[in-house]
Amino acid sequence: MAYHSSNATRYLRAVVTCCALFGYLGVFTPAGARAQPPSDAASIERGGQLFQQYCTECHGRDGRAQLDVISDATNLTLPGDYYNGSTDQDMYNSIANGAGVAMPAWRPVVGSDDAVWDLVYYVRSLWAEQP
Ligand code: HEC
Repeated sequence: MAYHSSNATRYLRAVVTCCALFGYLGVFTPAGARAQPPSDAASIERGGQLFQQYCTECHGRDGRAQLDVISDATNLTLPGDYYNGSTDQDMYNSIANGAGVAMPAWRPVVGSDDAVWDLVYYVRSLWAEQP
């Protein structure tokens, strides 16, 4: 009996340690509050592909929204003109949850937080192309 209970204690301690560790790593944090993944060439590349697939209809192939198909789609190459802020987190929120009246929420479409971050990094990469 004593043997069993001490095994159980050891087991519990292991579970608690694991939970604390995973909690620390952000595994159990709700979606959106997850740790931001790093930006690298591969993530910008993935974001570019998603952008060409979903975003050009309103923001244009170059992000400048010069087509004016949907009036008032933001020129994404000018962070100073963003209506809803241009920090990484601001952009994450705009893309994931939608913005204004005409911008849909993309998190359900692209399927993961990481894909939204890929889009954030791609959009940010357009800033550098300013003359
Ligand atoms: C149906 C048209 C439409 C599509 C498609 C669209 N957007 Fe938008 N987007 C808009 C409009 C309109 C706004 C301005 C929202 C507002 O008024 O606040 C906007 C705003 C944004 C903003 C915030 C800029 C700001 O002004 O704060 C970002 C970032 C953005 N879009 C990225 C994207 C990305 C990435 C995609 C593709 C996954 C995308 N958009 C697809 C219409 C669109």
